Amino acid sequence: MKVFQNKHQYPCPNPPTFPKGGGLFDRQGRQITYLRLAITDRCNLRCRYCRPEEGVLFNPHEEILRFEELERLVAIFCSLGINKVRVTGGEPFTRRGCLPFLTRLRKIDGVQHLHVTTNGVITSRYLDELVTINLNGINVSLDTLNQKRFSKITRRNYLEPVLKTVQGAIARKIPLKINSVVLEDTSDSEINQLAGLAKKNPIAVRFIERMPFSGTVRAEKLENGDLFLRLNRIFPSITECFTDLPTTARIFDVPGYKGNLGIIQGHSRLFCAMCNKVRITPAGMLKTCLYDNEALDLKMMLRNGADNHLIREAIVACVKNRFNNGHEAERFSSRATEPSMAMIGG
Ligand code: GTP
Ligand code: 5AD
Ligand code: SF4
Repeated sequence: MKVFQNKHQYPCPNPPTFPKGGGLFDRQGRQITYLRLAITDRCNLRCRYCRPEEGVLFNPHEEILRFEELERLVAIFCSLGINKVRVTGGEPFTRRGCLPFLTRLRKIDGVQHLHVTTNGVITSRYLDELVTINLNGINVSLDTLNQKRFSKITRRNYLEPVLKTVQGAIARKIPLKINSVVLEDTSDSEINQLAGLAKKNPIAVRFIERMPFSGTVRAEKLENGDLFLRLNRIFPSITECFTDLPTTARIFDVPGYKGNLGIIQGHSRLFCAMCNKVRITPAGMLKTCLYDNEALDLKMMLRNGADNHLIREAIVACVKNRFNNGHEAERFSSRATEPSMAMIGG
């Protein structure tokens, strides 16, 4: 089993590899080595910043990519130099067969780093198997440690099982990152409490800017404030850990902490210049930027008999045409209603 990721190992190593057939590069020369698969849009929470309480339109079952289709796509992407795959949702473990799927992904040639992003509600029951398949890491979404606030944010009362997953992952030494979206009413005391998890344990707690993916009518303006200034004010002795490797998170050491704190400025989009990832939505659309309007219908190709060569060519062309950054992608993809993050996978 891979031993614990400690605070000097961020981010997870994901250096580019150079496949025989040529890698995936965009016009700016950014190489794509990281693929995110959102395997379902279903979820057992209803986080306010992700989807409305009611009236969520789920993709019908037949519109969701089958596991064998996903595996075929992963093999194609790996032949193009992808070496890191992250499985997300919705909540990935709500899809039946998620664990056997992860086990099969692990065996695909080229999948060197396999990760999962989960809300942790039912994940604790799978932890032993995740150790067995040597999962490289698990990111758990947890925005507060306060029971009442948890229920208010997620519209469900499941803080306890999420904490069981967090503790279970720590006990099993599965590399763990906590994802905490910072909302307009998140208090310093909540940030302090969450940071306490990284003080006691060798894990990362990452505070995330809210992005406009709530599945509801677009608000006038998204107020995030400056997360770096806020963290610096609450923890004046933090020092930043710099890296040349592509990463969305800025990571900070705090004296006396076993783990780290981080911020993800996803809405400011300060890291686009080194972005190395693409996404496949549950309905099989390729996104070359979180903020784009979907760039290629992979499901249609798969289901209309395209062979691997044709699919590979289409992916290469699509990535070549990628937007320069998330601001540009958003400008060209205007929409009155925000998509739900559950339809994208983060
Ligand atoms: P690591 O691989 O552990 O660094 O995780 P990650 O940050 O790639 O993935 P995770 O699923 O944990 O996502 C954490 C937050 O980062 C979520 O809010 C994502 O929406 C956001 N995020 C991930 N990738 C991107 C990206 O390319 N652009 C933007 N704007 N946000 C991103
Ligand atoms: N803004 C920022 N992060 C979000 N996530 C879900 N919705 C949003 C949003 N609107 C995060 C979840 C999860 C990751 C996949 O994306 O908390 O950790
Ligand atoms: Fe579910 Fe994640 Fe959306 Fe929350 S953010 S409702 S956990 S998909």
